[in-house]
Amino acid sequence: MKTLKNMTVALSLLGSLSLFSAEVEVLHWWTSGGEAKSVGALKTMLEKSGHTWKDFSVAGGNGVNAMTVLKSRVVSGNPPSAAQIKGPSIQEWAELGVVSDLNEVAKAGKWDERLPKMFSDHMKYEGKYVAVPVNVHRINWMWVNPAVFKKAGATIPKTWADFEVAAKKIKAAGFIPVAAGGQPWQEATVFETIVLGVGGADFYKKALVDLDLEALGSDTMKKSFDTLKMVKSFTDKNAPGRDWNLATAMVYKGEAAMQFMGDWAKGEFKVAGKVIGKDYVAIAAPQTNNKYLYNIDSFVMFKQKDAEKAKAQAKLSELILSDEFQIIFNTRKGSVPVTDGVSRDKFDPIAINSINQLNAAAKSGALLPSMAHQMAISDSIKGAVVDVVTNFYNSKMSSSDAAKLLVDAVKNEM
Ligand code: GAL
Repeated sequence: MKTLKNMTVALSLLGSLSLFSAEVEVLHWWTSGGEAKSVGALKTMLEKSGHTWKDFSVAGGNGVNAMTVLKSRVVSGNPPSAAQIKGPSIQEWAELGVVSDLNEVAKAGKWDERLPKMFSDHMKYEGKYVAVPVNVHRINWMWVNPAVFKKAGATIPKTWADFEVAAKKIKAAGFIPVAAGGQPWQEATVFETIVLGVGGADFYKKALVDLDLEALGSDTMKKSFDTLKMVKSFTDKNAPGRDWNLATAMVYKGEAAMQFMGDWAKGEFKVAGKVIGKDYVAIAAPQTNNKYLYNIDSFVMFKQKDAEKAKAQAKLSELILSDEFQIIFNTRKGSVPVTDGVSRDKFDPIAINSINQLNAAAKSGALLPSMAHQMAISDSIKGAVVDVVTNFYNSKMSSSDAAKLLVDAVKNEM
């Protein structure tokens, strides 16, 4: 009797699994060591819930390649179930009527109560949730190899003037001061970090969020461009085209002293078995202490022909905002939880510092969306801004010409 009862339970369990099990094809660009390990956590959790994960990864930092592939899949009428999409692009996709409404899952999971409004607003279209946030990354970090600094007799800089002094010493000692990846999005990442440091939070907001033409053409913007060129002069000849994670490796291998990069870099240090405080240190990039450029990764679910798939989409969304996932994923990825109230026990000192800096910045008005990581302005204007930055970075253009071009580029797109 007992065995029969067990069998019935097992069969009905199996039945319920197969009844509700569906495949979720997930488009993402998390292919570096740390990124792949992080997204692996989501795959495992989804599969434990009885659904199937179909991986659709498109390599290329910042999702530049992934977004091109996504557009062609949607145009051909065959969108993936879920895709990593961020910032104003979420609303642009929603406007086309191709994305799923996640409001029911959001209500059941109390997303409005658990997410800071500033972040949940990014996830909504016409007041309804159409995206699920995964994490909060901070952009304006400086990743440091303290042993290289020590060997060069240099001090870890807090201002751009100090940076120049330190970088000269590091170069003279035979090291590469700055590990750089010469790809437009990486150059734009360094640029926006400099704009925040040189101009301050209000200036950053005016120029790169509100697109105020006066700020874009100002002397402060010229100074930011000059600082960017100064930083470039401390990078190596092989930087063009280099992937960001290879630049991170230069820091932990002791070839380079610093990298300016968002905290997904920490995922690489971790995968390489490096120890915080001993092998590497992360502090705010010069002049950006207590200022915070945020970058929130999120997933949008696309409407599917097969209605069963909606259940799997809902499950994926629910899992992402669970405390369990927020902890596993973010401790691997280098980011911090997007939901309030998640235990900090498993987070390292860099993450704790990130959370503290986020809170300080939120109070002072210095919590700002990253332009380079698609959080601040529409994709088309962002593209125009990044083009100017890259053209300036890779030519002999003067900083006044760059500022003028920036104004023109933004005017043309508006
Ligand atoms: C960012 C993204 C991060 C990280 C990085 C490098 O735009 O938000 O999660 O993946 O690109 O690929």
